[in-house]
This record gives sequence, C-alpha cells and structure tokens, in this order.
Amino acid sequence: MPMPPPLLLLLLLLLFLSPATATNAAATTQQFREAPQFYNSQDCPSITTLPDVDVDPDESDDGHMICSPQAVHVAMTLDTAYIRGSMAAILSVLQHSSCPQNAVFHFVASAAANASLLRQTISTSFPYLKFRIYAFDDSHVSGLISTSIRSALDCPLNYARSYLADLLPLCVRRVVYLDSDLILVDDIAKLSATPLGSVAVLAAPEYCNANFTSYFTSAFWSNPSLSLTFADRHACYFNTGVMVIDLDRWRGDDYTAKIEEWMELQKRMRIYELGSLPPFLLVFAGKIAPVEHRWNQHGLGGDNFRGLCRDLHPGAVSLLHWSGKGKPWARLEANRPCPLDALWAPYDLLETPFVLDS
Ligand SMILES: *[C@@H]1O[C@H](CO)[C@@H](O)[C@H](O)[C@H]1NC(C)=O
Ligand SMILES: *[C@@H]1O[C@H](CO)[C@@H](O)[C@H](O)[C@H]1NC(C)=O
Repeated sequence: MPMPPPLLLLLLLLLFLSPATATNAAATTQQFREAPQFYNSQDCPSITTLPDVDVDPDESDDGHMICSPQAVHVAMTLDTAYIRGSMAAILSVLQHSSCPQNAVFHFVASAAANASLLRQTISTSFPYLKFRIYAFDDSHVSGLISTSIRSALDCPLNYARSYLADLLPLCVRRVVYLDSDLILVDDIAKLSATPLGSVAVLAAPEYCNANFTSYFTSAFWSNPSLSLTFADRHACYFNTGVMVIDLDRWRGDDYTAKIEEWMELQKRMRIYELGSLPPFLLVFAGKIAPVEHRWNQHGLGGDNFRGLCRDLHPGAVSLLHWSGKGKPWARLEANRPCPLDALWAPYDLLETPFVLDS
C-alpha cells in the first residue's frame, strides 16, 4: 500500500533532520566561557582521600578524590552535538550545590571522539572541576541497536547509561546519571541521597498515570511468555534521563547483561519502538525506588512531531528536563524559543550566542 504523502514527508524529515548531523559542523567552532568558581559551604563533609585502586596513569585528575565516599558522583555523556547542553547542565549542578567541591563528574564519550579536545573544553570552562572521561566503545552496542522512530535515539552513546557500572571505577558505588538536556535548580546531594531501600538498584520519578502499554508493541503483549515479565509487578513508566543508580547492586547481579538480553530479543522481534528506554522498563519498572516528581520535570523539548512548546507539570521544580525533540539551545539560536527556554538561557556558557555559518 503506498504511504500517504504527509507520512512519507514526515519520515524523510526525520531521516534528514537528525540533530547530530545538524549541529556537528557548528560544534567544532563553539567556544565556551569560564564559569565562576564555586565553594563548599561550612558544614560540608570533608573529602577523605582514599587510594584509587584502579587509577589510570593517563588521567591528570586527583585520583584519590575519585573514590571518596563523601563525594557526590555524577555521570553524563559528552559529545559534540550536545556539548552546549552538557556545559549548562554542569554549571547548574555546581551553582545549586551546597557542596560543589565535593562533586565528581564521570563523563562518557565515544571512543572515536577526540577526548583531549573534550577534556580541554571542560577544563577551560570549569578549571576546578574534578572529572574523568571514559571511552565508550560504540561498536559494542551498535550491533545491538535496532532502529527506533527517532534517529537521535539510535546514537550508541545514548546507551552508555546501561554500562556505567562497567565503565566507572569499582570504588564508585552510587552515581546520579543525568541527560545533557537538563538543568538542576536544587542541590544534587539531595537527589543523590535518595533512599534505595534494601533491594532497589535504581531510583527515579515514576509516572503511574502514563499508558504503560504504549511503550511496547502488540507483538510483545500478545506473547504470554513476554508479557508475563510484568505479571507480578506494579510497572510504571519512568524516564531514564535522571536516575540514581546503586552501582554495587548493579554489578552484583549484572544488570548490564539483563538489558542486553532484551536488546538481543528486540533485534529478532520488534517488541518496542523507542531506543534505550524500553530495556530499562523491562528490567526495572515496578522495582525502582521512588523519587519526587520535582526531580524530573520532563518533556520540555516539546511535541516530537510538530515541535510544540510544553508547560511545566504542576508542583515543585528541582530539575528541568528538555526531553523530546526540541532543545532550548537550538530554539534560542533559531530565534524561536519556547517560553520555558528562558529558564535554560542563564546557564548557557557559549561564548558567542550565535554560531556563524561558514
Ligand atoms: C584533538 O584535539 C586537539 C586539541 O585539544 C587537537 O590538537 C588535535 O589535533 C585533535 N586531534 C584530532 C585527531 O583531531
Ligand atoms: C494505551 O495504549 C494502548 C496501545 O497504544 C491503547 O490500545 C490503549 O487504548 C491505551 N489505553 C488508554 C487507557 O489510553
């Protein structure tokens, strides 16, 4: 059956308007300002220095700090397409921390990326930041990715969050994973301290009003051996852009392998449409520790198809998340911002607000 023209056009647009291709060229010319230095308040726990068992001789950071149990560990991905968002996110974390000097950042970048350039970019804007960059082997995961409805979601780095337990040093036992299209307006130490109870591996805000059925295909629900996965669980949707992860528990039961098993199955039969999210739902939905909704005011990127603006969900706000297709930096640059993009703009560290073409 021939496709109706509007649908065909939409598919073509999705193919060609991948954010990665649109911004890669501009990214090489981006220069970022130096952020102010942020200091601990008086009652911050002092960092004990432990010897790092698996210190990387190539790393110039203070290796002893990486293992400190008093540190708040934050993991993010770094790539040229989203670097402007990442820089704003880092700034927002530091600015709203009562103990910013106790924050340690763990950045995951593609093994094919220029790590020294990324390191230089981060150090130039944040000369005092304690951080490490980890190389993520895209080829490992690219064989497991089946194409999703949004090509940006098929980027291998999007799956790096499933491998944090393997990438980060064993001495890092808990981490807050953050997407690059968000800003915090509250102290990340509070989020990091979320109680995980005696068994939960991760914590995130849950949305039990969302239609959970719609995240999986009818092929999944009509196959009893698959749909039974959720039989004795009160499974609710959660967004994987903000998660507190107990890395010890993750490593203990090898959750990376459990996620990969679902990705293998997805390659053989289509059980979901989106990218890295559904495997997380399959493994963890109904088993996570709750986090207040204020910690992920998601969806501010707007409608995935028409790019409509979204409003905040009712309630308090500790974290604003521009998930969805539209990104605040792209809309500001195009002079077509959504009203809430004005809340992102103060964290923008880009030296020249408008990148010149050629
Ligand atoms: C990587 O970036 C550095 C700047 O930090 C630059 O000197 C070098 O030429 C780059 N390497 C490649 C392979 O592009
Ligand atoms: C939930 O989604 C499924 C599949 O997309 C749909 O068939 C069902 O009608 C939806 N249920 C509600 C209550 O909207």
